[in-house]
Amino acid sequence: MDRREFLISTLSASAEPPVVRLAVIGTGNRGTALLRTALRAPAVDVVAVCDLSEEAASRAAAIASDAGGRRPRVFSGSDSAWRGVLELQQLDAVLIATPWPWHAPMAVEAMRAGKYTGVEVPIALTYEECWRLLETWEKTGTPCMMMENWSFRRDNLAVLNMIRRGLFGRMVHCHCAHSHDCVDHWFFDRDGRMRWGGEFLAKRNADQYPTHSLGPVLSWLDINCGDAFDTLSSQSSASLGINEYFRRRFGPDHPFARQQWKQGDIVTSLVRTKMGKTIVINYDMQLPRPYDNRWMVQGTLGLYDEPRSAVYIAGRSPKYHQWEPFAPYQEEFEHAWWKAMRQPQAGADSLAAGHGGADDLEVRLFLDAARRKSALPLDLIDSLTMSAVIPASEESIAKRGAPVPFPDFSRGRWRTRRPYFGIAS
Ligand SMILES: NC(=O)c1ccc[n+]([C@@H]2O[C@H](COP(=O)([O-])OP(=O)(O)OC[C@H]3O[C@@H](n4cnc5c(N)ncnc54)[C@H](O)[C@@H]3O)[C@@H](O)[C@H]2O)c1
Repeated sequence: MDRREFLISTLSASAEPPVVRLAVIGTGNRGTALLRTALRAPAVDVVAVCDLSEEAASRAAAIASDAGGRRPRVFSGSDSAWRGVLELQQLDAVLIATPWPWHAPMAVEAMRAGKYTGVEVPIALTYEECWRLLETWEKTGTPCMMMENWSFRRDNLAVLNMIRRGLFGRMVHCHCAHSHDCVDHWFFDRDGRMRWGGEFLAKRNADQYPTHSLGPVLSWLDINCGDAFDTLSSQSSASLGINEYFRRRFGPDHPFARQQWKQGDIVTSLVRTKMGKTIVINYDMQLPRPYDNRWMVQGTLGLYDEPRSAVYIAGRSPKYHQWEPFAPYQEEFEHAWWKAMRQPQAGADSLAAGHGGADDLEVRLFLDAARRKSALPLDLIDSLTMSAVIPASEESIAKRGAPVPFPDFSRGRWRTRRPYFGIAS
């Protein structure tokens, strides 16, 4: 069986691969979703779960044993209990889904312990954390990725295939956004109490969540593999949305209706790359609105527009300067990963769950790499590039939109690195 056949059989569960031993650290909302996703994948032994809260960790252990495995060991009760997980010898991989400030410290120690490391978004909050992660990765050689699930979306991977086959010509420009009202359920709970994420709205003004928008863009534009971010400039609107939400929902005397929030409602960042491409990135998470990513990618021959689910390609689209539907292109340029995921053996249920199946694909590829001791589908350099938009945008906003130089986590190797994302398949 060659690499491609093996991967397809693993993704679609048509063969029985060797078992991979996994631990999940942080079993709140996302960690539990990742655990359930991992339990749907073939040949996974969840050997440990860990959460500060004993209740959350025990609930996760019960989910794993109910799924037919043995009961995982439970680590909880202190904010350093996770260190015990990393000491386990019979452990191949760890998924980290704790609050943001824990991501970098936990990932550094997981790499030092030699475990395949998957970390929820963003993997780092500051430049210092980014460099510490990079240095640990270089020193230990332990594979580590950020679990940026939107890079694995079915439509985004078909667009990647179209770009690589030259349909849009040479790439010029992208627009992307994370437009997701999280004030009424994530930064705060339904009763208006602050959750841990809300603290960041009080103390930072930045694009706080740039990775979902940028995930597919990095591979579409060959960032860190032939091109690199050069400068970033960001502007932030005033902060009105959080106050108005609390006023509307809880009355003008609620303390959060009066508090001054540092975080502006909409942050617009503009990246210029070394090779002259431009990218507009929007943070938009505290005004009432439906979910939207607004991906648009444009080249010298045409463009893809995600909200319209449409393309226009000069010389191919039937009507001059008129959109045509994306759906037939989705079929024609289906990525090999998704061909495998759509096999009946992959389990149709899993495609409906976990962000339309993108989570299943991402987690299966992560587990497959850990079991084969091969490269992860997304590398640390790209993971850091996406996350470093947080401190870069904060710096630029503080300088009234001045362009700031963007750190090069490839250490100059972007010139010679070959595109890798989605190619190993
Ligand atoms: N990729 C996605 O689509 C997606 C979706 C939602 C959230 N996320 C990310 O997932 C992460 C977790 O978010 P969430 O919504 O699940 O938060 P959450 O608050 O529901 O879960 C976090 C869990 O971590 C635990 N925890 C805190 N400190 C810990 C420590 N030191 N050791 C062990 N456990 C600890 C908490 O008790 C809690 O159970 C965040 O980084 C978030 O950005 C990603």
